[in-house]
Amino acid sequence: MITTLTIIGIHTISLGRTACTNLTGSLGADKVDSNPLDLRYIDSREDYWNVLQSNYQPSCIVYPTSAQDVSIAVQAIRLSGSRFAVKAGGHNTNNFFSSVDQGVLIDLGSLDAKSYDSSTTLATYEPGSTFGELYDYYAQFDRTVLGPTLAGVGTGAALGGGLSYLSPQYGMACDNFRELEVVLPSGEIVAASANSYPDLFFGLRGGGGNAYGIVTKYTVQSRPAGKFAAGNIIYLFEQTDAVADAISDFMQYNPDPKASIVATYLKLPTPDLYLNLDEVILLFLVYDGLDAGDVFNNFTSIPYLLNTMATRTYPEVINMPIPFLTQLTRGDNIFRVGVHRVTDDSYKTSIDAWRNWAETNKGRYELLSFDYEPVPQSLTDASNAQNGGNAMQMPDGPWFWISYILETPPGMSQVDYDAVQDSFRGMVDSVGNAEGLPLFINDASVDQNPLSSFSTYAELQKIKKKYDPDGFFVEKTGGWSFA
Ligand SMILES: Cc1cc2nc3c(=O)[nH]c(=O)nc-3n(C[C@H](O)[C@H](O)[C@H](O)COP(=O)(O)OP(=O)(O)OC[C@H]3O[C@@H](n4cnc5c(N)ncnc54)[C@H](O)[C@@H]3O)c2cc1C
Ligand SMILES: *[C@@H]1O[C@H](CO)[C@@H](O)[C@H](O)[C@H]1NC(C)=O
Ligand SMILES: *[C@@H]1O[C@H](CO)[C@@H](O)[C@H](O)[C@H]1NC(C)=O
Repeated sequence: MITTLTIIGIHTISLGRTACTNLTGSLGADKVDSNPLDLRYIDSREDYWNVLQSNYQPSCIVYPTSAQDVSIAVQAIRLSGSRFAVKAGGHNTNNFFSSVDQGVLIDLGSLDAKSYDSSTTLATYEPGSTFGELYDYYAQFDRTVLGPTLAGVGTGAALGGGLSYLSPQYGMACDNFRELEVVLPSGEIVAASANSYPDLFFGLRGGGGNAYGIVTKYTVQSRPAGKFAAGNIIYLFEQTDAVADAISDFMQYNPDPKASIVATYLKLPTPDLYLNLDEVILLFLVYDGLDAGDVFNNFTSIPYLLNTMATRTYPEVINMPIPFLTQLTRGDNIFRVGVHRVTDDSYKTSIDAWRNWAETNKGRYELLSFDYEPVPQSLTDASNAQNGGNAMQMPDGPWFWISYILETPPGMSQVDYDAVQDSFRGMVDSVGNAEGLPLFINDASVDQNPLSSFSTYAELQKIKKKYDPDGFFVEKTGGWSFA
């Protein structure tokens, strides 16, 4: 038995080496790094938001600088039979989505050109930048692109949908796609848009990366970005219920798509030494314009610890000073997601379940966060108005996602780690999900099988079969299940 396993192990390693040797020959040593001690290799390997993925050791890391390079890499990997992974910002917490053990890691970081066409207002960017870098770049034109609310997240976020502060006005990031350059699993390079490869274009708009091919260029509708009235409000735990009620009211009744919130509840591992508290509520309030009027009054009227509302540019909105959230960084992090309607009491039962779990599991987490992510009707209207909606075919809002993040203490034994993950999964499952609404894949754990919650699942399965007919991506890299 041991001998068989050893043989499989050596075989796997040699498949990766075969691909790497070939790629070093065809792309050149500048673009292929097989030395785990090189700084570039170390940077790529360390830079995962779920640091447990840094334990894996790729046979080599490929740094393509063109779609042709990506195509050559895909073909060489295919011929070798090696495993592989495609990495943009490395923020997905699922194992093997953007990490690989003994195989080829394609790090898209060197593929980072970006441009803006003022005559069409279209923005074009390659996948290697973080969204923070993209927001900084487009700010010089007083424009921005739709993407996540924090700077370090990579462009894979758009393929998973991409929830932005501007989504209530312009839909999800993927709704703003106009053309995608894609290296198919065959190695062929195509341009997908509403007119060409429309099915591929559909699947890539929120149906996830890593499935139908590798996107090497995004052309998107940019949006104006002037001044914002934005800040964080921080409350102590005594306000849990009052803030949750105000969030629920905002999700149901806020009439102004220029007003956007993300509401984060944080649980610290122990009572905090300075403030003697272990729960903090952190609101991100963002208004596109100088004067938010009274849209946030239901929040500012609750007694708070700190309010940093100020006039900010879009990059400043993204880099708002967030004293407590600085703790929410690289770690042994795992995501889970829920989806709910605003009209029942799930906003309350979910936060209660989360708080109870936190109380009874002290010592088993380093940090816990719980985010309310509103999906107002203006968002789903804006989604449906562009390209006929995305791969989620989002039902009319308002409804909301909950993003749950569990950071376990470093160095947990596998047994303890599995036990706490099981328990956490049980808590999230106990809250349940609304029927007929899609789970957000950007916030999901692989075992939640989020694509199966999409009304378009059968169509996505067909598209997957068409573009990955021999299951190359299914077999050789991580990603969502289409089975
Ligand atoms: C701190 C933090 C904040 C976040 N905030 C938001 C938010 O505000 N809004 C939101 O929508 N999401 C948010 N997310 C979730 C985030 O969108 C997902 O984790 C997303 O998968 C990250 O993309 P990435 O490029 O950083 O990660 P990666 O792990 O590099 O990529 C994610 C997946 O996409 C695939 N992929 C990446 N690029 C390509 C490509 N060019 N072609 C094909 N496949 C590709 C990868 O193989 C992988 O499977 C946040 C996550 C974190 C950790
Ligand atoms: C890589 O493999 C391909 C396909 O087998 C082959 O045509 C090519 O010559 C190889 N390149 C190198 C440098 O080994
Ligand atoms: C504020 O809350 C009240 C109910 O307490 C609600 O009627 C009103 O619509 C809310 N306003 C906003 C902008 O959320």
